[in-house]
Amino acid sequence: MKNFIYDIPTRILFGSGQISNIGVEVKKHASKILLIYGKNSIKKSGLYDEVIKYLNLESIEIIELAGVDPNPRIETVRIGADLCRKHNLELVLAVGGGSTIDCAKAIAAQAKYHGDIWNDIYVEKRYENLKEALPVASVLTLAATGSEMNGNSVISNMKENLKLGMGHYILRPVFSILDPTYTFSVSKYQTASGVVDIMSHIFEQYFSPDKNGFLQSRIMEGLLKTVIYYGPIAFENPTDYEARANIMWTGSLALNGLTSLGKESTDWATHQMEHELSAKYDITHGIGLGILTPFWMEYVLDTTNVHRFVDYANNVWGISGDNDFDVARIAIHKTREFFNSLDIPVTLTDIGIDSSKFEDMASGVTKNGPIGCMKKLDYKDVLEIYTLAL
Ligand code: NZQ
Ligand code: ZN
Repeated sequence: MKNFIYDIPTRILFGSGQISNIGVEVKKHASKILLIYGKNSIKKSGLYDEVIKYLNLESIEIIELAGVDPNPRIETVRIGADLCRKHNLELVLAVGGGSTIDCAKAIAAQAKYHGDIWNDIYVEKRYENLKEALPVASVLTLAATGSEMNGNSVISNMKENLKLGMGHYILRPVFSILDPTYTFSVSKYQTASGVVDIMSHIFEQYFSPDKNGFLQSRIMEGLLKTVIYYGPIAFENPTDYEARANIMWTGSLALNGLTSLGKESTDWATHQMEHELSAKYDITHGIGLGILTPFWMEYVLDTTNVHRFVDYANNVWGISGDNDFDVARIAIHKTREFFNSLDIPVTLTDIGIDSSKFEDMASGVTKNGPIGCMKKLDYKDVLEIYTLAL
């Protein structure tokens, strides 16, 4: 196992009714805050009123920024940072899904940064320049990204046709409230997409050609089994508390560092290919992942990595057999079948995407060299995977 430092500073308040603590939690860090949220889901569900009520009890001053888009835009980040500077705000509170939380992190960073974080951090990755940020906190309403417990932020620049991620320790939320009842109102479509995103985060860390990481693999198999068990239950029965709670906590654990610390390598090729898709077509992240993942699995499977697929087949799906490649292919088939059972489309054609931008996307994904570790994918490989997914 490789050396690592395990340090996840986010305080998690999990469970029904935890919102009543929000004022006290915020007050530990700030008395003037930027409250950001998406379009209308938190007003419709009544969560907005709850948040305001408990912040008012602690006399927290609130400036609001509403309307964060799914695939949050850099323009929103700039507006939010200007508000923070103008009103001397001390914390950014995101109430929503991953897009809102990612946007809050970018605002928190830009508010304390003298240059342009889009160019310097998202594009150029000059992390050494990012020395401080406002504290970020979140109330999660959609289980998917893990943003509530990690330092990552993915932002879109539609003018440049780019969607780019960055990650920094100082952007991990100081606290996050995870109340599964807030996810009762998430649509079937977004529930399915969230389940796929969570599974994909695990796959990206689970599938590596080395043979180490025994403990990490067993933790990840447990997480995968949890969403495979509870995903269909939440899909059919949106108000099933146990299902929503298990999916929510799995989403946080899947991408907070726990499962990859100490591992030799992780992959992340499917995410990079999906980010190009959502940059060009503004599609839902989990839908893009659900389409690409089985094609990626089929493409990378070879003698150097078949042992990971065999583990996946045995320990997640309970499939065994004499021929490793047959076992691996059955597990891939099971994965696709599972996604389809949640109404995830099978091909890019199903969501109206043709091959016209494939070359451009493949160049974008591989502009800094080959991606992934299961199999190093260059321009030609990425183009081939997009084409197979057509
Ligand atoms: O805008 P509102 O009205 O809130 O509606 C949202 C939005 O339309 C809705 N929604 C959220 N909570 C709801 C709800 N509707 C009903 N009831 C609720 N309780 O769902 C829609 C999608 O929301 P969004 O925040 O975009 O979804 P998600 O959490 O899947 O976030 C996706 C974004 O996160 C990025 C993705 O690329 C994408 O931009 N990612 C962030 C990561 C990270 N920070 O670590 C990692 C991921 O791999 C991912 O790339
Ligand atoms: Zn993801």
